[in-house]
Amino acid sequence: MSYLETTHNVYKEAALSPDVGLCCTTNPIWELPGLKIPRIMQEMNYGCGSTVHARDLTNNPKMLYVGVGGGMELLQFAYFNRQKNGVIGVDVVDEMLEASRKNFIEAEAQNPWFKSDFVDLKKGDALNLPVEDNSIDVAAQNCLFNIFKADDLKQAIAEMYRVLKPHGKLVMSDPTCEQEMNDTLRNDERLRALCLSGSLPISEYVKALTDAGFGTIEIRARKPYRILDSKHYPTDKLIFIESIEVAAIKDPMPSDGPCIFTGKAAIYYGERDYFDDKKGHVLLKNQPLAICDKTAGALASLNRDDIFISESTYHYDGGGCC
Ligand SMILES: C[S@@+](CC[C@H](N)C(=O)[O-])C[C@H]1O[C@@H](n2cnc3c(N)ncnc32)[C@H](O)[C@@H]1O
Repeated sequence: MSYLETTHNVYKEAALSPDVGLCCTTNPIWELPGLKIPRIMQEMNYGCGSTVHARDLTNNPKMLYVGVGGGMELLQFAYFNRQKNGVIGVDVVDEMLEASRKNFIEAEAQNPWFKSDFVDLKKGDALNLPVEDNSIDVAAQNCLFNIFKADDLKQAIAEMYRVLKPHGKLVMSDPTCEQEMNDTLRNDERLRALCLSGSLPISEYVKALTDAGFGTIEIRARKPYRILDSKHYPTDKLIFIESIEVAAIKDPMPSDGPCIFTGKAAIYYGERDYFDDKKGHVLLKNQPLAICDKTAGALASLNRDDIFISESTYHYDGGGCC
């Protein structure tokens, strides 16, 4: 059996009997006026963060969500769009599509504004999306891509890139891990399917996105996720897994490389009212400007004693340079 078949079976089981501890998120369940998340959707929350960010969702974007789970995030996306077929949901597991279909009927009963046909559920594979080229404004996946091995990850990201319109956004949440994992862990198909042993360091995860052509990357959140310890897992050292929320934007690739925002800011504190690097970055005195890592490097290389550059907070929420 391939690891993709094992994954299929794990999520068939998780569709037939909800498994509350399957994935863990420290995110509180979204509360918005008039939005009720049915209990069954909460029990089937198999994500590791949130891909729903209000600022991505203005002007009725056409949305795609790959790996539907119990449907909670599709309901949250539909909240912002409220149009027939406004959100396409794709999943390869029939039982998961069926479970989410049932959950949307429950959501309809609890949310007067919601209709099941706001979500267009399609059977399909993240590696071969049943979606037209350049047709989507906001695409999302939560806790699926970390399962994929390198070639499949490349293919899944290329598929998202293909279906997004120019400047469209791919919004994701996935576990990441900065420590090395041994081959026994890496090759354990069930642990991989459970989002425990496929994760990459953040830099490799980001590189997979920029290699696909995404010109702008935003790391929006970084949180503790899980521990793999030697009593319960085949490892002789304690492994700390985090989860990140990332947006990859289909902007053209800048000639000097991608803009990767990791939550750095620059503050000019010199004698003048502002500092202008003549490359499009104007730092007003004593006001932080969010900068990408490339600009942070360029400003640091000036070796000035009146510009402070903060460390990455891994919490970027918009604005700034580039
Ligand atoms: C970890 S769950 C995440 C579910 C949902 N995104 C959430 O946050 O609750 C992974 C989801 O991806 C689906 N899936 C697994 N392999 C897939 C594939 N190759 N293509 C599309 N969906 C897949 C599973 O059925 C399941 O719904």
